Amino acid sequence: MSAQSQSAKRMTPPDIRVRKGGEPLVCLTAYDAPMAALLDPHCDFLLVGDSVGMVVHGLPNTIGVTLDMMILHGQAVMRGSKQALVCVDMPFSSYERSKEQAFDNAARVLQETGCQAVKVESGVYVGDTIRYLAERAIPVVGHVGLRPQAALAEGGFKAKGRDEASRRRVLDEAIATDEAGAFAIVIEGVAEDLAAEITETVKAPTIGIGASAACDGQILVTQDMMGLFDWTPRFVKRYADLKSQMEAGVKAYGEEVRSRAFPGPDQVYKARKG
Ligand code: KIV
Repeated sequence: MSAQSQSAKRMTPPDIRVRKGGEPLVCLTAYDAPMAALLDPHCDFLLVGDSVGMVVHGLPNTIGVTLDMMILHGQAVMRGSKQALVCVDMPFSSYERSKEQAFDNAARVLQETGCQAVKVESGVYVGDTIRYLAERAIPVVGHVGLRPQAALAEGGFKAKGRDEASRRRVLDEAIATDEAGAFAIVIEGVAEDLAAEITETVKAPTIGIGASAACDGQILVTQDMMGLFDWTPRFVKRYADLKSQMEAGVKAYGEEVRSRAFPGPDQVYKARKG
């Protein structure tokens, strides 16, 4: 099979777009190749989120994430995945200064990772940038509502749309993002009625996170839904309890090493063969 026909099997931006109002989009974050390989058969869309800064690098928020970090993780996720669309987040300060800056950095992400799309946190002011990118064949996903890159300015990660002015602002952000040509829009941290109104209003499929089931798809941070951390956002259902399992495994390993019961290769091989 040629490289071209192999890559043709991947989900594309038009494949995602036609899912508006149809079968819900299954989306998760991925930051490395083995995790991407595990998620890929079950997902339509893998996001190399700038949440990597907090989830993998131990940063307090996403502000310290750089374009080079996103490219490195994007390359790994592309190597691990085969069929999901891979979208890489544009980190803070890589697209806000000008449309030209956004184009240069987004093009670098596409060229150096081979991913299919980039995501920008799209306040109304980013509408012109999205249009500029989309008109120049850069597939863009928008991100409205709670925008983690605004955490410093807003004093934390705050849900949006709680009063009429905030509701109107989020709706305006979504409309501007849609009209500018984003092929999908992440909605984060808004109540169900607002998510439903946005989903009904915009042409692009909406992908919710902490934004109710009233969206065209859902995304979660994989480590959150797999229970790798003590704290997870209130809206996240845990589908596994990886932290307890890993703790038990590491404890058992430590005990075996310390008590000189650590199995040699022959023992492991026999035990594995059953
Ligand atoms: O960075 C990220 O992981 C995200 C998702 C949570 C939507 O933007």
